[in-house]
Amino acid sequence: MTAADPEAALRHAIAEQMGVTDGEVTLTSEATEATAHDIVLGRTGPGTPCGDLLRRYWYPIALVRDLTEERPIKAVRILSETLVLFKDGTGKVGLMQDRCTHVGGPMIYGWIDPKGLGCGFHDWVFDTEGNCFFKFYNRYIPRPWAKAKAYPVQQYAGIYWTYVGPEPIPALPRYDILARTDGTRRITAYPEIQANWLADGIGDASVPPISADQTESTQFALTTYGITKRTVSRTGEIDEQALILPTHLRTDALWLRTPMDDGHIWQVRVDFVPGPESGIDPAEETPEVADDESHHADAATIPPFVSLDSWGSGGGPNADRGQVLLRALLLQDLHRVHQGLDPLGTVRNPEHAIINTKLNS
Ligand code: FES
Repeated sequence: MTAADPEAALRHAIAEQMGVTDGEVTLTSEATEATAHDIVLGRTGPGTPCGDLLRRYWYPIALVRDLTEERPIKAVRILSETLVLFKDGTGKVGLMQDRCTHVGGPMIYGWIDPKGLGCGFHDWVFDTEGNCFFKFYNRYIPRPWAKAKAYPVQQYAGIYWTYVGPEPIPALPRYDILARTDGTRRITAYPEIQANWLADGIGDASVPPISADQTESTQFALTTYGITKRTVSRTGEIDEQALILPTHLRTDALWLRTPMDDGHIWQVRVDFVPGPESGIDPAEETPEVADDESHHADAATIPPFVSLDSWGSGGGPNADRGQVLLRALLLQDLHRVHQGLDPLGTVRNPEHAIINTKLNS
């Protein structure tokens, strides 16, 4: 799979917004380009430039507690696609398209079979790789021409993750908060947020820990996993945060955020408290989960963790550089993907060392 031509897509998106033809758009004005970048970069669907870029990363889609014996099937929305997450009769977890490949029966109303997820309409069964069988009494008759779209699922740190991009599938990054075993983890689950992952999620909502008029300096730096921000107050107080590509944020906690579509984000927070060695493999761990219903509705209620952009009205030194850097990085990665290369933050070695996302903790 290759991404669409970024420049052509950019021109087309502007043309759509302005109600003109693609040929009438000139990519020269800085203001137009800035708006256009966000129109294009914010989009999540397959076939859109940034949608194809976003597909190069693993995302959380549900908590392990969300699939139970009583509720083994769950609808999941990720990058503008609706999918069905299920646990088959042997405990294996799968993620497949939400419509049956026969005549489109809704798989969310299916039934659990030892071999996979059964369609309620005519008893076709799909395993976790999307292979299709007609179940006749206890026989499974293969229907190879009816294979469904299915995606890999990994359990890690009490979360189900998926990768919906092209092969080869990268490794699931072992960020420190998720992978450390010398302590305990805790998850906080939030209702979905009505916001675009770029325009409102990363970019605009901001309640900085150090106010603008108290900021002495703000510095951004590129790392192997994203962008770090270091803010020093006039009194010498230091705050460090990181954007972990493509959408996650690291403060004292790790805020994992999955773009569900162009207007919704699913978010969970993971906290880690150092302590005695637990000896529990994160791949089998089910940390305690707390629900926080107090944050919902829209970007205005996103908790105070986003601050790659300006430090409130007036801003501080280097205030907008995070925004500029992030967008430049996304554009650079669009071109890399267009050329068949991995975007920044891709991890290929499944045995990689734990990724330290906060050097001072
Ligand atoms: S629609 Fe699913 S088996 Fe017929």
